[in-house]
Amino acid sequence: MPPLSNDIVLRALLREPVPYTPVWLMRQAGRYLAEYRATRARAGSFLALAKSPALATEVTLQPIDRYGLDAAILFSDILTVPEAMGLGLSFAEGEGPRFERPLRDEASVRALRVPPLESLRYVFDAVAEIRKALAGRVPLIGFCGSPFTLACYMVEGGASKDFGTIKSMLYKNPELLERILEVNVAASAAYLNAQIDAGAQAVMIFDTWGGILADGAYQRFSLNPMRAVLAQVQREKEGRRVPSIVFTKGGAGWIEEIAQSGCDAVGLDWTADLGACRKRIADRCALQGNLDPHVLFAKDSDIEREVEHTLTRFGEVGEGAGHVFNLGHGISQFTPPDAVAVLVSAVKSQSRAFHKVSA
Ligand code: CP3
Repeated sequence: MPPLSNDIVLRALLREPVPYTPVWLMRQAGRYLAEYRATRARAGSFLALAKSPALATEVTLQPIDRYGLDAAILFSDILTVPEAMGLGLSFAEGEGPRFERPLRDEASVRALRVPPLESLRYVFDAVAEIRKALAGRVPLIGFCGSPFTLACYMVEGGASKDFGTIKSMLYKNPELLERILEVNVAASAAYLNAQIDAGAQAVMIFDTWGGILADGAYQRFSLNPMRAVLAQVQREKEGRRVPSIVFTKGGAGWIEEIAQSGCDAVGLDWTADLGACRKRIADRCALQGNLDPHVLFAKDSDIEREVEHTLTRFGEVGEGAGHVFNLGHGISQFTPPDAVAVLVSAVKSQSRAFHKVSA
């Protein structure tokens, strides 16, 4: 593998000095890009696209080619793992994910097993192919869903307004939910390790729904399982540390505990005050985020001002601190593509002043 010509994201995640704040965007390869929609049309469906290593490679590189972002993220989905467990995944147009066989009774939970990694081979093949296609331009981030967020979809059978079914299970039959989480922990750890073996250079755990939990329940049912995943993930590959990122949407209230989960960086949504979060964890982890994705619907000068606000909130980066610029959640499919170019160029030009250490 060729050496990385731009490893700024990896260094920022490990709180090493960098010349500017690196930037990538959650869901950066997606429907807001015409070239993505064209490749998706060729594939026939989102799942067919994710299951073709060649087409997944093509769409992973699209935002890198267009914007010069500092990292690529594997094009896939967090629900590939429960799909491999046999729950029957489909994506209905405009409706989001749906499982044909959700976990609704004790028998289906008892029957749940860690899927053979072979059934997810297409993901690892995509990772290897993307690494080759990137040829060292920027690092590749692998990912998985948090055990709890996966369980949300596995129990509800799809998106939900209040997650009433899984939250009832949590209070009525916590052991049953813990059994699901146990399987998800083992599957997620094996899944991330196989991505790292195939070439992923950093990993991120997407905990989209941990923030719906009560204090106490969050620690037990979402954070602890993520900690268990991180404890099993390999930390070194190709002679370098593989940084890990934990992103709990709505999780800023628990940032001290998240920062002690074994991750190198904490992802924050747009409701968090970056500067206050930084102080609360005393720079023990890097921070990633946290621009509101809807800022990208503003006019150029306002996008630039919001970038400045985010950088100022984090403050002077200095020795032993790390900030990776990102959105607070995935980019909207209705985002005007030119707004992303404005954002990336604003981050790159404005952020140099916040990095006094020459790197
Ligand atoms: O960030 C990236 O560019 C990598 C790709 C990626 C996707 N999904 C592609 C995708 C990643 C990291 C995910 C993670 C994911 N998937 C999460 C966690 C992060 C988050 O957004 O909260 C969740 C909850 C899912 C489950 C999922 N997948 C949902 C709810 C949906 C439907 C949403 C929608 O906008 O319709 C998906 C489908 C999906 N995953 C799309 C993409 C680009 C849209 C599918 C399409 O092209 O039709």
